[in-house]
Amino acid sequence: MAEKHFKYVIVGGGVSAGYAAREFVKQGVKPGELAIISKEAVAPYERPALSKAYLFPESPARLPGFHVCVGSGGERLLPEWYTEKGVELILSTEIVKADLASKTLTSAAGATFKYDVLVIATGSTVIRLTDFGVQGADAKNIFYLREIDDADKLYETIKAKKDGKAVIVGGGYIGLELGAVMKMNNFDVTMVYPEPWCMPRLFTSGIAAFYEGYYANKGIKIVKGTVAVGFDSDASGEVKAVKLKDGRVLDADIVVVGVGGRPLTTLFKGQVEEEKGGIKTDAFFKTSVPDVYAVGDVATFPMKLYNEMRRVEHVDHARKSAEQAVKAIKAAEEGNTTEVYDYLPYFYSRSFDLSWQFYGDNVGDTVLFGDSDPASSKPKFGSYWIKDGKVVGAFLEGGTPEENKAIAKVARVQPSVENVDQLTKEGITFACKI
Ligand code: FDA
Ligand code: NAD
Repeated sequence: MAEKHFKYVIVGGGVSAGYAAREFVKQGVKPGELAIISKEAVAPYERPALSKAYLFPESPARLPGFHVCVGSGGERLLPEWYTEKGVELILSTEIVKADLASKTLTSAAGATFKYDVLVIATGSTVIRLTDFGVQGADAKNIFYLREIDDADKLYETIKAKKDGKAVIVGGGYIGLELGAVMKMNNFDVTMVYPEPWCMPRLFTSGIAAFYEGYYANKGIKIVKGTVAVGFDSDASGEVKAVKLKDGRVLDADIVVVGVGGRPLTTLFKGQVEEEKGGIKTDAFFKTSVPDVYAVGDVATFPMKLYNEMRRVEHVDHARKSAEQAVKAIKAAEEGNTTEVYDYLPYFYSRSFDLSWQFYGDNVGDTVLFGDSDPASSKPKFGSYWIKDGKVVGAFLEGGTPEENKAIAKVARVQPSVENVDQLTKEGITFACKI
């Protein structure tokens, strides 16, 4: 089979790949120099849409509507854009072997690709219940959500099982976003998760109480402190019930599982240094191997603000790390350097009419401010995280664009707090004054 050579290859065709391609073109690449190799059949798109508008019952979002870079208010890169710019988009092509020493990638179909510079942008895959040997977890209509094909299959089944029963396993991002979307599709929804409250990696009990109350008011049932230990299916192999560790059994026509992600680094195991489950990089996303960069979910990079190596599984970092890596690659060619990556963590989510943003670090003591009554007609509340007398993190539900900007500034500036009661009383006003 023919071998192809490119100056730059991006392996993976998700969010980072799309933003990297835009940056390469901005910085100047000649036609034929850059290739993106993706397992997916479509050009890079804004993955967050899959758990939200893609599954809406009315006017769901569809491609080409959400190709990158619309999610950050940028130009939408349609498949034609890649052709016009001479960027080769090699789709439906899974790389199954990467030999970093000989700078060669091999696809499942046996094609080989040589590169001068490689950008690893393989993202994450889902953790499956079958990975833990959960009985019956391979039944039909048990869904995971990572790629557009997963979303298409789920969407079809939502239509086929109209007004049915859905069980959501997991109380993280996927759990909360899918719980809402299944309810919007008129399913009878039950959520199950092992922790005492939802999104424990980020939410305090106070924040979680609001979302759990809001979901309950929408008619969603929440079962906490237990896990799914097995599934029953019917004669055609379709899931019918979820068995819980505490002995309860929940009827189900559809199960959606969101029990976490795992960065896709296996192709490079033993060839590149790893840290904290990801590929170790410097502040320019350069790995331990010359001419190899890693961006997005797979990169464990120095977070300057906290003087610590971290990995981030969110879209804002996927976009920014990709841009940073490409700037660094192009600067190095000219014998220059770029500024070091100075990332302020930014996470967000939306469900029903709700929308929250978080900036900074969720460590230290917390205060809850504002109206966090789930029954309010227009709830608006937030939290600050305080460490060593400084505000280091801020969360806001229902904020205006200006208020969201203000909490970002607080997390960046880390103002001192003398009086915590005063901070609680001031709430969002405190951030707006910074
Ligand atoms: P990404 O997963 O986007 O892309 C990886 C690409 O590599 C995929 O196209 C994959 O097929 C391809 N690939 C992997 N292995 C390959 C191989 N061997 N050969 C070829 N191709 C290969 N974040 C956030 O901040 N707010 C949000 O609302 C959401 N919402 C959200 C919803 C859903 C459903 C998911 C799954 C995730 C989110 N996220 C999010 C997280 C965010 O989408 C995620 O952090 C970024 O997509 C990461 O970008 P990457 O480019 O690193 O991976
Ligand atoms: P997550 O890490 O956010 O949540 C995993 C949850 O799984 C935990 O909170 C826990 O409640 C639950 N859990 C763990 N083991 C369980 C078990 N055996 N049974 C039941 N529940 C169990 O992961 P996720 O929600 O699956 O999301 C996957 C990836 O997609 C992550 O990288 C996430 O950042 C990303 N994502 C992000 C967003 C966003 O930023 N808005 C939205 C969707 C997905």
